[in-house]
Amino acid sequence: MELKNSLEQTYRGKKVFITGHTGFKGSWMVRVLQLLGAQVKGYALAPVYHNGLFDLLDYPSTMHSVIGDISDKKYLIQEITSFQPDFIFHLAAQPLVRESYNTPAETFHVNAIGTAHVLDAVRLLEKKCTLVCITTDKVYENKEWIHPYRETDELGGYDPYSASKAAAEIVIQSYRRSFFNPRNYASHQKSISVARAGNVIGGGDWSADRLIPDIIKALFQQQTVIIRNPASVRPWQHVLEPIIGYLQLAQKQHEDPIKFAGAYNFGPHTEDTLAVEQLVQLVLNTWGSGQYEVQINPNAPHEAGLLRLDITKSQLELTWKPRWNAETAISKTVEWYQEHKADIRAVTDAQIIAYFS
Ligand SMILES: NC(=O)c1ccc[n+]([C@@H]2O[C@H](COP(=O)([O-])OP(=O)(O)OC[C@H]3O[C@@H](n4cnc5c(N)ncnc54)[C@H](O)[C@@H]3O)[C@@H](O)[C@H]2O)c1
Repeated sequence: MELKNSLEQTYRGKKVFITGHTGFKGSWMVRVLQLLGAQVKGYALAPVYHNGLFDLLDYPSTMHSVIGDISDKKYLIQEITSFQPDFIFHLAAQPLVRESYNTPAETFHVNAIGTAHVLDAVRLLEKKCTLVCITTDKVYENKEWIHPYRETDELGGYDPYSASKAAAEIVIQSYRRSFFNPRNYASHQKSISVARAGNVIGGGDWSADRLIPDIIKALFQQQTVIIRNPASVRPWQHVLEPIIGYLQLAQKQHEDPIKFAGAYNFGPHTEDTLAVEQLVQLVLNTWGSGQYEVQINPNAPHEAGLLRLDITKSQLELTWKPRWNAETAISKTVEWYQEHKADIRAVTDAQIIAYFS
């Protein structure tokens, strides 16, 4: 519980603003912050699915939840400046690669311009504020090589989602240099970092076109699980890993706002970077039943094949490290879905406490 105590010292009683609090990662982050004693306010679109954590944990009555569009700059600025946050975690995004092929311009707008709107709001805060912008491991120009990507590697992006997140990073870099330059920290008091995490799994994700939700939905309906990219390798990790990583990063920025105003990768240990087919097999074994079938669509839009992340910087500078291996991450995920109709608050809280211990 050393980690929990340390985070509690930073976050207890602090004002924390989260964009994207109705989504999968945002919902977990809200619950962790509530358990740490923070005062949390969220800003996002209404949840798309009504069996996620946002509804099951009754956030509308346990936190300050604002339903709004990140494209509505005026409303966003009003909600941020009236709250006067100590910390901001920017998660709101169109986060799906396949959807980005259907709505490329909208994806660029929400992900890149939406980030600029958050940064404009931060410019108007006349107080110390720490901001973590959540992008993705997909911001790296993917060379389909075996080497894990480091924070200093080239940014790029083939599909519109990846490119929109790389674009968001360029927006952040420009604001950091132009308005929140660490050299002038004493005058603006803002520290801006970027967090790049790999693919996350965990209870409460019901998104379309994501592997775990697709598997779980098929298992509940006793259907065969269909997988389309069995050999794709991704840095899978439980959702609590990056969430705690973001909190540790912001904690470090709060203590040393200049040193930690940079980019950080959050991913699993090398041995837990699995191919899709391996992950599916592990999920079915843990679930206790079910079967899968590979159906490769030769006309499917391009998705990266091989993606590994180097997490040395986060391990050394933040003293963050992955706590759950792939097997534990999968068993916690399966446990959540199998029990989500029971007392989900107890199940969710128990998983958070187990993570800390
Ligand atoms: N899930 C992953 O595997 C993964 C991996 C790497 C990075 N990320 C990043 O983490 C963040 C959260 O992802 P998630 O998995 O929770 O996705 P999600 O789809 O579950 O949640 C997205 C959130 O963004 C909000 N949002 C979307 N469009 C908006 C708009 N126009 N205005 C206001 N809010 C809007 C949604 O309402 C929701 O709250 C995203 O920035 C995503 O790119 C996710």
